[in-house]
Amino acid sequence: MKNILLIITSLLTSFLFAQNNTVALIPQPANAMMKEGFFILDNECAINYTPEAKKSALILAETISTMTGIKPIIGKNGVRNIFLEVNKVSNQQTGEEGYNLVVEEKKITIKANTETGIFYGIQTLLQLIPTEAIWSKQQSGSTNIPAIEITDYPRFRWRGAMLDVSRHFFTKEEIKTHIDQLSHYKFNTLHLHLTDDHGWRIEIESLPKLTDIGAWRVERQGQFGERENPKPGEPKHYGGFYTHNDIREIVEYAKEKYVTIVPEIDIPGHCMALLAAYPNLSCTKDSSIQVNPGTHFSEWFSDGSFKMLVDNTLNPSDENVYEFLDKVFTEIAMLFPGEYIHVGGDECYKGYWSENQACKVLMENLNLQDVNGLQVYFMKRVNDIIISKGKKMIIWGEDGDFPAGSTVMSWKGLQRGIEASTLGHFVVMTPTQHCYLDYQQGESSIEPPVYASLRLKETYHFEPVPKNANEKYILGGQANLWTENIPTFSTVQYMMYPRAWAIAEVLWSPKDSRNWETFTQKTEKHFIRAKAMGINYSSAIYDPIITVKHQQGKLIVTLESEAHNVEMHYSIDGTMPSVFSDKYNTPIVIPNGNITFRCASYRNDKKIGNLITLTYNDLQKRADQ
Ligand code: ACM
Repeated sequence: MKNILLIITSLLTSFLFAQNNTVALIPQPANAMMKEGFFILDNECAINYTPEAKKSALILAETISTMTGIKPIIGKNGVRNIFLEVNKVSNQQTGEEGYNLVVEEKKITIKANTETGIFYGIQTLLQLIPTEAIWSKQQSGSTNIPAIEITDYPRFRWRGAMLDVSRHFFTKEEIKTHIDQLSHYKFNTLHLHLTDDHGWRIEIESLPKLTDIGAWRVERQGQFGERENPKPGEPKHYGGFYTHNDIREIVEYAKEKYVTIVPEIDIPGHCMALLAAYPNLSCTKDSSIQVNPGTHFSEWFSDGSFKMLVDNTLNPSDENVYEFLDKVFTEIAMLFPGEYIHVGGDECYKGYWSENQACKVLMENLNLQDVNGLQVYFMKRVNDIIISKGKKMIIWGEDGDFPAGSTVMSWKGLQRGIEASTLGHFVVMTPTQHCYLDYQQGESSIEPPVYASLRLKETYHFEPVPKNANEKYILGGQANLWTENIPTFSTVQYMMYPRAWAIAEVLWSPKDSRNWETFTQKTEKHFIRAKAMGINYSSAIYDPIITVKHQQGKLIVTLESEAHNVEMHYSIDGTMPSVFSDKYNTPIVIPNGNITFRCASYRNDKKIGNLITLTYNDLQKRADQ
């Protein structure tokens, strides 16, 4: 009976897959050719490997088993076989990280020059497993992998994702889960933003107050940037940090997934948590400074300038600062084996420097025209420290000269990256307009309260090598996730996916293989996979994009969709929209009055995505913007 059930489920799985026969690989491989037939993956299959690929074989077996319940045999001949082979003679085309994957009826072969390549071949193979097999876990005992021939390799060597663990803290286990998902989509760099005004998150044994004090803040809810100041003597319960052992564990785990961790210690600005522990290191030496729980402590002006109402910067004229940083970077360099240490350098307010006597003397001695020169001096001193630890410095590099040999992460657009590349500095492109995944990805009335928008489509249209850049120096790009408005790990996932999938494809796939239409279709298939694997994601691509303008005394609403094959229905009569409500075809003229506009997307008569509700006032405000 059990066998019959297995056969029926297996047939059903094959049928479902046949119904849904296009494979959806993200990132798109460099070359992929579908073939006739399929490989039956079941408990009679075996995984065979060359000695260097043993670790990969175990990972593959374990992942297939957790995903589908199927348990391949390891290291013996099976009825059908999966071969993992590290090449004896190097294949020039696939290079350091690429692979060849061939799926035939009786065997699957993954060949690569390195274990890294085998790992990426495995990630592609896992995506060839039909989603139905993940859903029907433990039941079918068998699934069909479509025959295919793939030759694949990355476009860029830096395929990064930044996670801000300062504004909100994420546990060691959550970081590992994050690494799993990133590496599955062939990211190879996890940049951890470990320190900021809102928390210092890494143990420095020689400076224990950094975590005794700097890792903890008073607990607050509500909109970040508008929260109440700590009260005198109020206990500090929110926070956390990674011990040296935690970091070693994370680094080791990441290494197994071919991910390098890049630590960031953000200086000389963004240092309130550091200064809460060691206030003497600022110009003001303000001992009342606290780890910030998300209060309003800065003013931003329309020309992009800003003022810090609290001194959150290190004093560049104080030698104690450099001694302190030497201690910090000694431990950081020891804990992280990667070649880079990120030292921030962004959004440094210099108002307290310009009022400080010692800074003025230093400026005079160095013959500096203004306080900006002090930051250049500071970054140069830090560069010397980083180099003395055998590492390379990477910086946000938003203004001033680039210190010798430094690598630049271009975030305020692409221009600084272009400049840096033409001066012979390596560059990681991470412009806000394509890569800031903390921005809203959908309708603003239902997304986390962030001041800017970044739809999936804009993410997908990121091009890391802009005109006039020196391509030779562009290492790649990075998705950045700042977490002021991201209190939980499931929200991290919601903000990451699907936009990180888009960036994964930008950074891995050949430029001319990118196709927005195909990508959205693949994205929808990966939604189903993500759901089956328990990964949160945003379905904002289904939500109508609402634009409002004034025209002849009326408000005119236009609806667009990022997803294909959807109908948008709306109501302005107070009823809930349904498939029976007006279908959107042309811009809607909103009658003046106390109107509520509602809309949603539908496919095959089913609502997909969110219901959006906007009052007349909301619409008017949008038209006024
Ligand atoms: C940044 O977004 N301040 C690098």
